[in-house]
Amino acid sequence: MNYKKLKKKLRKISPSHDFNNIKDKYATLYKIRLKEKQDIISIKKAGRLTVDILNLVEEYIKPGITTNEINDIVEEFTRKNKAVSAALNYHGFPKSVCTSVNNVICHGIPDDTILKNGDIVNVDVTPILDGYLADASKTLFVGSPGKDAQKIVSVAKECLRLGVLQVKPGNRIGDIGYAIQTHAEGQGCSVVREYVGHGVGFEFHEPPQVPHFGQKGQGIPLVPGMVFTIEPMVNLGKHNLHILSDNWTAVTDDGSLSAQYEQTVLVTDNGFEILTPFD
Ligand code: MF3
Ligand code: CO
Ligand code: CO
Repeated sequence: MNYKKLKKKLRKISPSHDFNNIKDKYATLYKIRLKEKQDIISIKKAGRLTVDILNLVEEYIKPGITTNEINDIVEEFTRKNKAVSAALNYHGFPKSVCTSVNNVICHGIPDDTILKNGDIVNVDVTPILDGYLADASKTLFVGSPGKDAQKIVSVAKECLRLGVLQVKPGNRIGDIGYAIQTHAEGQGCSVVREYVGHGVGFEFHEPPQVPHFGQKGQGIPLVPGMVFTIEPMVNLGKHNLHILSDNWTAVTDDGSLSAQYEQTVLVTDNGFEILTPFD
């Protein structure tokens, strides 16, 4: 039997033959580890816990709460569910959750800061459950938001939604960033360049990188079994940032508000599934 015929026959016997081929190819070419059915079931469990943590935190967000108290809530609930936070001690990060307030873009460290009416705070959680990770974040209003806060949060949320809609086999990584950047800049906002989405599931940050800016039709083709985050950080002013002396906290250069939404997304045979499903 010639090779072509053998390949065809194998495909009939075992439909996983094609998947295994692509799995090897993506591992070799891109260092991307495609996820199998059992992996996806486990990441989904971590994803459900991620959403439960975010929902719990949301109940407590009011003027007067400190970001340290948010950390306590996350830590206790994570532990109660037999999970650990991937953030804690990650490259020396000292807390279990990132809390990024107002002009903080990401990686805010929980401390004694008291949240006040009108603030926005991004809460980013990544539990490890049975060795699998999911990663998601939301930007929450503290009390009643002003106009600028409402605007930046709704633009960030819509950027995530439009990015996720690009996820299907045949599209490429660049299609996601293009959709996000086009929306953000169309609304007079800007997209952060220095931090990107990432593969996730087995580890905190796996290949590929998923920029929130870019060009249509560019980058790695999406294939079923890829699991990655999309997590646009959108600024009301310019995209430039700097990092504070704690070596973590990223803030906007111009002091403008910044908001972020993040989901963990699976590429399916005909589109996507959100593995950290919040609305
Ligand atoms: N959760 C962040 C992300 O979305 C990473 C935080 S790293 C930490 O990729 F060390 F600051 F927790
Ligand atoms: Co992430
Ligand atoms: Co995150």
